[in-house]
Amino acid sequence: MIVSTLQAQKFEDLAKTPPMGWNSWNKFGCDINEKTIREIADAMVSTGMRDAGYQYLVIDDCWQVKRDSAGNIIADPERFPSGMKSLGDYIHSKGLKFGIYSDAGTATCQGRPGSRGYEFQDARTYASWGADYLKYDWCNHGKQNSEAAYTTMRDALYKAGRPVVFSICEWGTTKPWEWAKNIGHLWRSTEDIINCFDCKNYWGGNGVLQIIDLFTEIGTYTGPTHWNDADMLEVGNGVLTPNEERLHISMWAMFSSPLMAGNDLRTMSKETIAILTNKEVLAIDQDKLGISATRWMKYNDLEIWFKPLDGDAYAFCFINRGNQPVNLDQDLKTTIKKYVVDGSYQIRDLWKHENIGSTSENVKGSLGAHDVLMLRLSRK
Ligand code: GLA
Repeated sequence: MIVSTLQAQKFEDLAKTPPMGWNSWNKFGCDINEKTIREIADAMVSTGMRDAGYQYLVIDDCWQVKRDSAGNIIADPERFPSGMKSLGDYIHSKGLKFGIYSDAGTATCQGRPGSRGYEFQDARTYASWGADYLKYDWCNHGKQNSEAAYTTMRDALYKAGRPVVFSICEWGTTKPWEWAKNIGHLWRSTEDIINCFDCKNYWGGNGVLQIIDLFTEIGTYTGPTHWNDADMLEVGNGVLTPNEERLHISMWAMFSSPLMAGNDLRTMSKETIAILTNKEVLAIDQDKLGISATRWMKYNDLEIWFKPLDGDAYAFCFINRGNQPVNLDQDLKTTIKKYVVDGSYQIRDLWKHENIGSTSENVKGSLGAHDVLMLRLSRK
């Protein structure tokens, strides 16, 4: 009998800041193939997304069709004729990292083969393809215990030996923030995002505001190597207005959420690129302290969120949930928990890219419907 002495764990040195990348699901659903994925990889480079920090290119559901007689998972030979190793090599050749998707149940959410009972074999297969990231879903899980099911795949990835960011996707249903810190690097905290600003649908899909609301209670659980995941971005998918898109990515950054773009990078407008690659906003997301924002104030439709940053700095994010402009006349001098904001901070507007004064004076102006004012405070 061979007894392994290797104690399985998660790969500790990954995701010290929230993972950033692109995922196929929001825009393409099951309509994916290797040509599209290669073109997306090219676009991640040519649009400046890669250089802004978007690193992981994740192929979501529907790449897989069956298992062979030895139980090996088989990629769709019509849509991915060159195979996943070749695709992974191409993604790596662009200076990107390669992400793949599976499910802890017998079938994925789209009815493709899941990994249940094949966890160690699948993990070895992904390693042989050069995968760097696994999103692991929760459909058709039967009566499995979520912590146990995700631990099995964590151990399988570890034993396969290739460092992989493990993205838990059980939609917050069993409170992964309470048990997943040593299992995955990120966990979806809510059911799926839907492409709208303020709506919910019959199966629990959430608009941008609904996800923000679900994040009011769980901020303390997030941090370096273990992140609350607010789900993939809907920026550039044609429904949200520019104000709403800025608000959406600003708040994801306030939460230190992973940022996975979910639009067609090959055809996006200059405005969309500017929103997705605003480096000052992305730096709030990637701040090395990894502290999630708390809601500091709520006055009717206006909310003000607060996030401590590395180096005696803070972010304040004003969002207007309503359909009418809101007048602002806000003193930012305050004490929030142990953080003291006095009158000596310089204030920078991260969407206008300009300094707008100091905390010795109130922030004034008007905030449009569904718009955001994102500020960074630092010492003069
Ligand atoms: C679930 C996940 C989504 C996506 C789909 C794919 O709904 O939460 O993010 O991966 O499955 O089928």
